Amino acid sequence: MGITTTSCVDVTPEQLYRKFASLDGQYYDRARCERYAVLIKEIKRLKQQRRAIILAHNYQRPEIFEVADFVGDSLELARQARNARNADVIVFCGVHFMAETAKVLNPERTVLLPDMRAGCSLADSISADDLAERKAELMKIFPDLKVVSYVNTTAEVKALSDACCTSANAVKVVEALDSQNILFVPDQNLAHYVQTQTKKRIISWTGSCYVHHQINAEEIEKVRRAMPDIKVLAHPECRADVLALADAVLSTSAMARYARESSASRFLIVTECGLSDRLLMEVPGKQFFKACKLCMYMKMITLEGTLESLRTMRHEIVLSDEVREGARRALERMLELAA
Ligand code: 13P
Ligand code: SF4
Repeated sequence: MGITTTSCVDVTPEQLYRKFASLDGQYYDRARCERYAVLIKEIKRLKQQRRAIILAHNYQRPEIFEVADFVGDSLELARQARNARNADVIVFCGVHFMAETAKVLNPERTVLLPDMRAGCSLADSISADDLAERKAELMKIFPDLKVVSYVNTTAEVKALSDACCTSANAVKVVEALDSQNILFVPDQNLAHYVQTQTKKRIISWTGSCYVHHQINAEEIEKVRRAMPDIKVLAHPECRADVLALADAVLSTSAMARYARESSASRFLIVTECGLSDRLLMEVPGKQFFKACKLCMYMKMITLEGTLESLRTMRHEIVLSDEVREGARRALERMLELAA
């Protein structure tokens, strides 16, 4: 999808209340909407003062979309960060690896992450030292080996990779590399999915996203039995048996596009809940069901934290020149191969 959002006009508590009506009414009650309207106004004022933009991932809380200049998937956010020329500051409402990617692609901007605890189980599943060791081992067997790292990794891991990829372009990047043997890290499910789409040899790591890995095939089958006409859209971080039941395997923004453009009226959105919440609010006349779990890391970003981040200019993403340059090479290679 990738949508540019913020308006300069202040949102009223009543407008927020109506906007969030399709979500959990008990959570988004009038008192909360009043509090959020005040925070949103102050964030927009400080954004102007600091010459800042806010980039937000599709899984963010609905209230964060109110202050975001752009909402999208990892690939779209990386492109937006790289092209952010008119801002001094990028506040990243997402997780740590996404903010790092923004810093790598646009080192002249100050990049802030409102909460440093916003990590990712995939990024945690591989260290640069372990990757270096495995790569050296495999190079002895496959001298043409190339390493493709999912963007859900640290900048240090990216720096050891030949190219990065996101869920939107993983197959394209693997296909475009001049090697038959690919060490694909760290998501075993995405690696397995890529293997079903290419004749190249994919050697996988054993990482997984704790959110997608816990979604099971029985949950999907149950919904399908109840609603045979439903379109099942799944994220490639899901297990293979879940993906086998999907009508389409897509990145978060591609799922949103599919749902908007399809003539179908009912969708099961098999990914983190933030995306289905967004579709519930933004696509009237269609029904969205969730087979999802919350990502606790994404939900660590709040309006309060974002305001504090703009007030205090915390928490700044800082990278050494060496790591930044290595990660930049792998990210730029991805953008070039998947253009
Ligand atoms: P997308 O790039 O599809 O938005 O996925 C990011 C992510 O972290 C999925 O869990
Ligand atoms: Fe990481 Fe999974 Fe959360 Fe995405 S949903 S940020 S892969 S833990």
